[in-house]
Amino acid sequence: MAKLLYIEASPRKDRSHSIQVAHAFIDTYKTSNPDDEIETLDLWSIDLPSFDNKTINAKYAVLHGDTHTQEEADAWKIIVTHAENFKSADKYLLSIPMWNFGIPYKLKHYIDVITQPGLTFSFTPEEGFSGLVNNKPATVIFSRGGEYAPGTPTEAFDFQKPSILGWLGFIGFTSINSLEIEPTLAPPEAVESTIEENCSKAANIAKSF
Ligand SMILES: Cc1cc2nc3c(=O)[nH]c(=O)nc-3n(C[C@H](O)[C@H](O)[C@H](O)COP(=O)(O)O)c2cc1C
Repeated sequence: MAKLLYIEASPRKDRSHSIQVAHAFIDTYKTSNPDDEIETLDLWSIDLPSFDNKTINAKYAVLHGDTHTQEEADAWKIIVTHAENFKSADKYLLSIPMWNFGIPYKLKHYIDVITQPGLTFSFTPEEGFSGLVNNKPATVIFSRGGEYAPGTPTEAFDFQKPSILGWLGFIGFTSINSLEIEPTLAPPEAVESTIEENCSKAANIAKSF
């Protein structure tokens, strides 16, 4: 039995385009994999630790091979819990709205918490950086009000998709599917057909994910 971790980054729930398409993925996934566990991580309903001075000191202590103070050890323990939960999955689904050309701050906070040496990546001066989340597939559903496809005048403003694909690559992912739902600020009939098309693409990916 495999575990699918679904990370939800929009607070709009019933009105969210990215969540609607993610649900189409999950419905098909459940049919194809009835025994799998699906964990939903709603980033708007969990408490993440502040990534503050003591936590940064704890991170650098790990990078430099130093021993943690008690305060750093306490802070690091919480970080490890979040990173280990992330790593406990076999497959990943993320649904992500574009906010101010990037990602919602809750997702950035989560990334800051779980992107850690010895947990999701490693570093040695000799070998540099290596991702530690290996051989696991991810599907990422991006939604955005405007259009950022290659060749559009706003392509260069897309700091959402490149940053997420870059981050996933950094921590070890090599098999990533992505869907872009855009432009969601178009007239309702056009949005409806974009959503329908992306739900069908998501279901197709889910069949053999
Ligand atoms: C705070 C905020 C900032 C946004 N910034 C952008 C933006 O920079 N570019 C854009 O194309 N759309 C922007 N949008 C529109 C959303 O990307 C769009 O509505 C998307 O469908 C949201 O996904 P969701 O429906 O899953 O929440 C923004 C929306 C919000 C709420």
